[in-house]
Amino acid sequence: MDGNIHNGILSGLPRPFFVLAPMDDVTDTVFRRIVGRCAAPDLYFTEFVNVDGLQSPGRERLVKRIQFTPEEQPLIAQIWGKNPENFYKTAQELVEMGFAGIDLNMGCPDKTVVKNGCCSALINNRELALEIIHATQEGAAGKVPVSVKTRLGFNQNDYTWHELLLQQKLSMLTIHGRTRKDMSEVPARWDDIAHVRELRDRIAPETLLVGNGDVESRAQGLALAEKHKLDGIMVGRGIFKDPYLFAEHSPWATQTKQERIDLYAAHVRMFAETWTNKDRRVATLNKFCKVYINHFDGAKELREQFMNAQSTDELLNLLAANR
Ligand SMILES: Cc1cc2nc3c(=O)[nH]c(=O)nc-3n(C[C@H](O)[C@H](O)[C@H](O)COP(=O)(O)O)c2cc1C
Repeated sequence: MDGNIHNGILSGLPRPFFVLAPMDDVTDTVFRRIVGRCAAPDLYFTEFVNVDGLQSPGRERLVKRIQFTPEEQPLIAQIWGKNPENFYKTAQELVEMGFAGIDLNMGCPDKTVVKNGCCSALINNRELALEIIHATQEGAAGKVPVSVKTRLGFNQNDYTWHELLLQQKLSMLTIHGRTRKDMSEVPARWDDIAHVRELRDRIAPETLLVGNGDVESRAQGLALAEKHKLDGIMVGRGIFKDPYLFAEHSPWATQTKQERIDLYAAHVRMFAETWTNKDRRVATLNKFCKVYINHFDGAKELREQFMNAQSTDELLNLLAANR
C-alpha cells in the first residue's frame, strides 16, 4: 500500500450513484441481470460470501454463488468471515476473478453470524475488524477498491466505530441507518447517516459515503443524497416494489399482467439455465413471484399456483398458460 486511497472504478461513477444492495438469496447473477435489463443501477454487489468457506474444501459451491456475467458491471464482491488470513487469500482471488471491488460486511445482524463473532459483531471487536480490513487491503494490493458496509452501531449509535473505520483508507463506506439492535424494525435514520458523512468530510474526504435504508424510489434517493450531501444511495428491498426503480421514469405502475408475467418468465428461464436444483432450490423463486405477480386482478390466485410449482419447467408452463 502506498498510503493513497485506490477508488478505481468508483471514481468514474456519477454523483450521486445508485447501488443495488447485497441481499442474500436475492441479488444473484440472475436477478442482477433482470434489474440491469429493466434499469441498471450504477453499481452492483454480490450476496455476501464467506471467506472461511471459500478457503475450505467446500469452496466450489461458494465460487458458483458469486458467478457473474459481463452484463452486471461494475460488480463488487461482498465478503464476510472470521480469519484475516482467509480475507487476504480471498481478496487476491477476487481481483483475479475480475471483480471491480471488495466490500467487507460489518453489518449483518443475524443471530448465528453474530454469535460467531462475524459481521455486525465486529463493531464490538475492533482489533479483529482492523486486522480483517488490513488483510483485505493487502490482498487487494491497490488493484481494486476495498470498502465496508456497516450500521450506526451495535446497541446504540456509536460514532467512535465510524471514526475508526474512516481512518483506514477505505474507498467507500456504506451506512445502513440502523443499529444491530434495531434489526430492520424501525425507520432508517438518515440524519444519523449524515452525521457519519460529516465525520467523513473531516477525517477521510476521499472515502465515498453511501447511505442505505428504506429508499423506495429514485426520486427519494436523489432527494436524500442532496439533503445529506452523500456520494451514493444504496437500495435493497425497494427493488421488490419496483424492478425498474433505478429508471428516471419507472413504467412499473402501469405495466400489464402480460408484461409482468413475461418478466417473471424471463427470470425463471435464466434461473433454470444458471442454477441446477441442487445449487439453488426452486422455492428460491417464490420471493420473486411476489415481486412480479402483483397489482392485477387475479394476481393472488396465480401466485398460489406458481408457488406450488415443483420445477422450473412446471413453472414456465404455468406462466405460459396464464399470460
Ligand atoms: C433478504 C435480504 C438479504 C440481505 N443480505 C445482505 C447481505 O448479504 N449483505 C449485506 O451487507 N446486507 C444484506 N442485507 C441488508 C441490505 O443490504 C440492506 O442494508 C437493508 O435491507 C436495508 O436497506 P433497504 O431498506 O433498502 O432494504 C439483506 C437484506 C435483505 C432484506
